[in-house]
Amino acid sequence: MTKLGRHLLSIDDLDRASIERILDRAESFDEVSGREIKKVPVLRGRTIVNLFYESSTRTSSSFELAAKRLSADVVSVRSQGSSVDKGESLKDTVQTLSAYDPAAIVIRSPHAGAAGLVAGWTPAAVINAGDGKHEHPTQALLDVFTLRRRLGSLDDACIWIVGDVLHSRVARSNILAFTRMGATVTVCGPPTLIPRDIEALGCEATTTLDCLEEADVVYVLRLQQERMRDSFVPSLREYAARYQITSARLRPGQLLMHPGPVNRGVELSGEAIDSAQALIGAQVRAGVAVRMAVLYELLVGVPILAAAA
Ligand code: NCD
Repeated sequence: MTKLGRHLLSIDDLDRASIERILDRAESFDEVSGREIKKVPVLRGRTIVNLFYESSTRTSSSFELAAKRLSADVVSVRSQGSSVDKGESLKDTVQTLSAYDPAAIVIRSPHAGAAGLVAGWTPAAVINAGDGKHEHPTQALLDVFTLRRRLGSLDDACIWIVGDVLHSRVARSNILAFTRMGATVTVCGPPTLIPRDIEALGCEATTTLDCLEEADVVYVLRLQQERMRDSFVPSLREYAARYQITSARLRPGQLLMHPGPVNRGVELSGEAIDSAQALIGAQVRAGVAVRMAVLYELLVGVPILAAAA
């Protein structure tokens, strides 16, 4: 039995078999994205609401494209410029938008646990597009998709996640997803940016790049200064000196990833970003097909060939 409920709130909602099923389906949707007419009629007549309470470029645009390529009607609401500015609460906003009878609500919020709350306020399927420092499950899925394509399988791959682990929902979801797919994960960053209990997620932790050579994949995280109320690093210059991933610090053959947006010259050097080792563009491209697959799994949930027949 594979595990996938009505919502996608956390990578913990998925076992390995359901991750594989979503990624297999994403492969077939990626083929649709390569066609001139990038549309299939599987969600025709159904409505998807994208509700973004935090800045986003990649996640919001790819969810919107994913829903459109499945022929759904899409309503995208950003907190800025909506009635949230007039003081409307998240609950009232969700209940208002639920009056349109959406099949799914995609929610990004600065608050950990917000997606779980939304799931209790609407009959729609809820997809967590990032809730504060908690989780970002579709980012993890697109990262596994990108790596599976490059490596064939994540079994026994050694993945280092380097940077601001403390404020990163991507780190949390990716540690869970990478280990579930058979990889070993080490997180690395300054002691102030590594959560004390992080090993409980199934990874190792280190505060130096000394053994970076062992990594097959170096996954770099952004310094999330918008979530820092205190000073977590002495200065950006010192951070860069100790932890910036440069071409010189990478060994040939290591793959480089970053969820974006990148602070060029802080966590990653410009030449590393633009090098052939970087999969950053492939990660963004994977976002559309993987989000199509997630919408499909939650809203249709029958084999695509059967649906097409
Ligand atoms: C990430 C996020 O918003 O959590 N970006 C993304 O979704 N592509 C990571 C980040 O903001 O650093």
